[in-house]
Amino acid sequence: MCGIIGYVGKNDANSVLIDGLRKLEYRGYDSCGIATISNNQLQVMKTVNRIDSLVPCTQKLGTSNIGIGHTRWATHGGASEKNAHPHVDNSDRFVVVHNGIIENYLELRKELALQGYKFYSETDTEVIPNLIAMNYDGNLLEALKKTTNVLEGSYALGVIDTKEPEVLVATKKNSPLIVGLGENENFIASDFSAVLKYTDAVSILDNNDFVVLTKEDVKFYDRNLNLKQNAVKYIDTNDGDIEKNGYEHFMLKEINENTITVKKTLDSYLDGEEIKFNLNIKPKEFKNIKHIHIVACGTAMHAGLNAKYVIEKLTRIPVNVEVASEFRYKNPILDKDDLAIFISQSGETADTLACLELVKQEGIKHISFVNVKDSTMDNLSENVLYTKAGPEIAVASTKAYIAQIMLLDLFAIYLAKINKSYDEEKLNDMLKSAIEIPNAIQEVLENDEIYQNYAERISYTSDMFYLGRGLDYYVALEGSLKLKEISYIHSEAMPFGELKHGSIALIEEGTPAIAIATDKKMIDKTVSNIKEIKARGADVMAITTIKDFPEDVVDEIIYLPEVNEIFSPLVSTIPLQLIAYHVTVEKGLDVDKPRNLAKSVTVE
Ligand code: M6R
Repeated sequence: MCGIIGYVGKNDANSVLIDGLRKLEYRGYDSCGIATISNNQLQVMKTVNRIDSLVPCTQKLGTSNIGIGHTRWATHGGASEKNAHPHVDNSDRFVVVHNGIIENYLELRKELALQGYKFYSETDTEVIPNLIAMNYDGNLLEALKKTTNVLEGSYALGVIDTKEPEVLVATKKNSPLIVGLGENENFIASDFSAVLKYTDAVSILDNNDFVVLTKEDVKFYDRNLNLKQNAVKYIDTNDGDIEKNGYEHFMLKEINENTITVKKTLDSYLDGEEIKFNLNIKPKEFKNIKHIHIVACGTAMHAGLNAKYVIEKLTRIPVNVEVASEFRYKNPILDKDDLAIFISQSGETADTLACLELVKQEGIKHISFVNVKDSTMDNLSENVLYTKAGPEIAVASTKAYIAQIMLLDLFAIYLAKINKSYDEEKLNDMLKSAIEIPNAIQEVLENDEIYQNYAERISYTSDMFYLGRGLDYYVALEGSLKLKEISYIHSEAMPFGELKHGSIALIEEGTPAIAIATDKKMIDKTVSNIKEIKARGADVMAITTIKDFPEDVVDEIIYLPEVNEIFSPLVSTIPLQLIAYHVTVEKGLDVDKPRNLAKSVTVE
């Protein structure tokens, strides 16, 4: 999604902004731009190319100590220079960067047009600098406040005034914005990564609050413009975590971090046979749970499906998994004894956040499984369990997914222990066996060449199938999404038994199909299903943990190390992440920044 960086201070704003934009690149963008003020002159540069293409232009500009920058992920109006941010008002005085969506912009645009304002872009954002100009009466903060009074939708806004080139003003509503506090320099940004090079002291802006930054000072205001104190946090994220550290792509680095991610999760929450979660939900309340709702989007939703299987198996509590954009509008049936679970890597996904608000309003117990500490979801949730993946930069989620699965597995065991719903000895055996998972993942990673070779073999295809039963089906869903989002190859994931009810019609000579088969109980059924697609020409690779798998029914077979059944997705997902990665490299595509996608989807 769009990224914002703003700077006022002792250094040259042009280079700080470019640097910040590079750190926000991972969020996904299709145009970018910066605006700085030098000798009271406004300098605006925009491009539909990569951020680096702005660099030669900035070198020709006069030095500046204030500016705002933006990476845009097109929503209203295509990716073009005229739609790229920053946007200026008709008098070229007030300059704005915006993340979010102004839902009533057409109405506002009409009203402004009646007063003679002209519009040069198709964006919802362009009304904002013009509203600020209209509302300006000698005080930029007040003009911004009056402007936000009429805005409907979500926004994080950074504003500068060409006639007051030492002040940067910002505000936000339902879109993330942080303030970085440095020495003789201060920042605003969409996330910490953009400022960490300069300062580890940050403050998170609350919804509807305002902030005024100068080189020496930062002042926070509430929605009524009363001064307020805002807590300052010191971020301990190592800048190295957001670098590639020698890997060609972030995605490959992050896939290779799956081992340490699982280890960190186990080290953080597991003490022998005891799972340590710090939750404000009493054992008695857990015992009363009648229904669990899991709400998430994309890959996080796949982690939810996996959790449904494991929770239902160990606790017999019915679980429904809902895509957040559906749950929020379906008037969900919620009961006071229900538990809602939200899963999000970024903690900023607009639809998931809206569902969290809805569940909170209904007074339903909830737990959020979040990767980014201090994200909006972290701050809004009454109970949070942190996944231990560390910063994930590639748009395609890999290690965060593995961390979600691991933590949700632990949660299922935790719940089963409290509710005494499953044999205690078997639960303890599961926990004991969990320490083998990092080694099993490492073994898969060390056999990367196999997946590279397979990827080279199938990268020509335009269609592909991922098939499995039970937990293997959820792995298939995630493998398929991974391939689609970065390689642009269409693929379909199906429960193996469902294929013959329609989609098998798409199988023809040479169609690649990956069969995930880790469930011994289902092996005969799976083998029959494989024969059905082989008979129709499919090129089948089996990924299995079953030692006596009948090799002659497939074209290629990969044996994975065996782990306890409920943990098998932690191992069997890794080959699919590697295959998606290598196919994309083979096709010469941009692995870390796939087209049309954003890392965190902060708009509906
Ligand atoms: O940050 P979140 O986990 O809430 O994001 C949810 C989805 O947008 C995300 O998982 C998306 O599907 C990824 N691109 C998948 O790789």
